[in-house]
Amino acid sequence: MHFHILTLFPEMVMDGLHTSITGRAVKNGHITIDATNIRDFAGNKHGHVDDYPYGGGAGMVMQPGPVFDAYQHVCDKIQNRKSAGMNLKPEDEKKVRVVYMTPQGTVFNQSLAEDLAKEEDLILLCGHYEGIDERVLDRIVTDHISIGDYVLTGGELPAMVVIDAVSRLVPGVLNNDVSAEFETFHDHLLEYPQYTRPEEFMGEKVPAVLLSGHHKNIEAWRYEQSVMRTKERRPDLWELHDKRNKKDQ
Ligand code: ADE
Repeated sequence: MHFHILTLFPEMVMDGLHTSITGRAVKNGHITIDATNIRDFAGNKHGHVDDYPYGGGAGMVMQPGPVFDAYQHVCDKIQNRKSAGMNLKPEDEKKVRVVYMTPQGTVFNQSLAEDLAKEEDLILLCGHYEGIDERVLDRIVTDHISIGDYVLTGGELPAMVVIDAVSRLVPGVLNNDVSAEFETFHDHLLEYPQYTRPEEFMGEKVPAVLLSGHHKNIEAWRYEQSVMRTKERRPDLWELHDKRNKKDQ
């Protein structure tokens, strides 16, 4: 899968995503991540990409021209990669999804991550200041995504969150293929507690059932723990799980 980030701070996203599991996924060729600096498309020698909002108000607004040109540059790169060795015409091209990171978007969750993981390419657009001129958003954006009901200084951290959550669903990125399937949010349940060595820590022992080697009992214990945890910590999720169970019966 190929991630393309449009940003004013390429080093921020590239540094963050080239460490840990996403970094390893890039090295192993399971994903690619490139960042395009919108400022490179400023079209003026000062590198200005923002201006005062029409109608007045606080802050600055990112201008449509540099954003559109940066987007076009990324689209051309994708087109060139796809048509290398093939005779693809532009009209054969499936439109690449463009995700604008904004607190005004749909709140990101696991099922949205699963949906995005089906794409071959994904463009993530990061805003700054008071936002981006609406005309370019109308033209290029397919999805508006928020990572929660709070306002950050820019879209870079949200884009990194989305890329992290989506890339771990790409086959091969996690060592253990089943681990993305049986985890928190699967079936609207939180994951059960995990334990590792030592068997006793500060006087507290690992639950005996986990040492029993009895797989049926372990599974039952884990399910029970998941249920308890979900009811206590995320009653909203528990309601969804319960509703689904009742519907399936
Ligand atoms: N940009 C600023 N705040 C944001 C948020 N909560 N989600 C996505 N993008 C943002």
